[in-house]
Amino acid sequence: MLKGKKIVLGVCGGIAAYKAVELLRLYIKAGAEVFVVMTRHAQEFVTPLTFQTLSGNPVHTDLFNLYQEKEIGHISLADRADLFVLAPATANVIGKLACGIADDLLTTTVMATKAPVLVVPAMNVNMWENSIYRENEERLRRHGYQIMEPATGYLACGWEGKGKLPDPSAIFAASEALLVPKDLAGEVILVTAGPTCEPLDPVRYMSNNSSGKMGYAIAKAAQQRGARVFLVSGPVALEPPSGVEYYPVKRAQEMLATVERLWEPTTVLIKAAAVADYRPREVAEGKIKKGEGESLMLELVKNPDILAQLGAKKGNRLLVGFAAETDDLLANARKKLTAKNLDLIVANDIAQPGAGFDVDTNIVRLLTPDGDVEALPLLAKSEVATILLDRIASLLCTRRGSVE
Ligand code: CTP
Repeated sequence: MLKGKKIVLGVCGGIAAYKAVELLRLYIKAGAEVFVVMTRHAQEFVTPLTFQTLSGNPVHTDLFNLYQEKEIGHISLADRADLFVLAPATANVIGKLACGIADDLLTTTVMATKAPVLVVPAMNVNMWENSIYRENEERLRRHGYQIMEPATGYLACGWEGKGKLPDPSAIFAASEALLVPKDLAGEVILVTAGPTCEPLDPVRYMSNNSSGKMGYAIAKAAQQRGARVFLVSGPVALEPPSGVEYYPVKRAQEMLATVERLWEPTTVLIKAAAVADYRPREVAEGKIKKGEGESLMLELVKNPDILAQLGAKKGNRLLVGFAAETDDLLANARKKLTAKNLDLIVANDIAQPGAGFDVDTNIVRLLTPDGDVEALPLLAKSEVATILLDRIASLLCTRRGSVE
């Protein structure tokens, strides 16, 4: 997302300035070009040389420095930004911006930019709660600035509470979200993810190896692209992405009931969950005890096929399924595409290294009812999610008769 993007990182004078170094590293690792602007007070906490060395670009500090102005004037810095990030942003700088004061290089450049501005405040909890500060923040919000909530915890000033700079990875994610085109705005995308767990008794269940990583990556990317996202998830060890409406479930029947409840407003269903096809006929009330015999017979009954049931009443919704296969990938995926009345199926050969359950990558093919097969190389699940949503966006566009 950030590859090739130009980010201006404004660093203000607070103890959290050292965390901006880590943020800079994340941007550079993602392939962004970063130009750092520091206030005079920021330079008391971290030296410009640190940022210069890591960004590979001169650090800008002084509005009236003839050399800096000749090399790259502050207006040109404001113009070239795809994104402006203020981290940490102090109460002082936020107050100045809220009042239209531009008395140093940083405030002048922020006021001159047309790029989205992400403000990441960090300060003492009492300053953060101060009513004048709250008004200033609100004013910036009204003028289109994106403001992150600080984290809560032990603050460098000795107080506990809200005011900590959020983790650099959270600032990085918020930066990505600001640059994503909102081409799915207006869509309501329901994503199912993870395994289902079918209980045998109060302590045991049948399940599978699904980690939920693919479904969560789709939910996150869809939310960033402006969709309202429902994430119905079996038990996994992942945090739901911020901004999605999260519905944890355990059994297939519960997943079906939840999906049906959310069905009415849904415009796109993406079923990435690995639903157990069968469940034990009986769930024992007490723990099943070890018997005398050498084996134990379990009787299983079929679970509802959630996707097939919804495919039968899809109306003009767009339905996307997944096919996890070990043999005859394309033939089996095509059968599911037709049988479940889908618009797109993501086929993955889970026997291939780097594909399928519990890894961060996937190798998939995208099949449509007109016989098209698009083979994608080994990609990170986040990249698969982006391409899948690109295809969904263009299917929606065609369906609505508009030309992209
Ligand atoms: N699916 C579902 N409900 C089920 C089983 C599967 O909604 N009871 C959905 C999955 O979420 C996936 C698609 O159907 O999007 C295909 O799932 P998969 O497990 O590959 O295929 P099955 O239809 O279960 O067939 P089989 O296990 O025989 O391959």
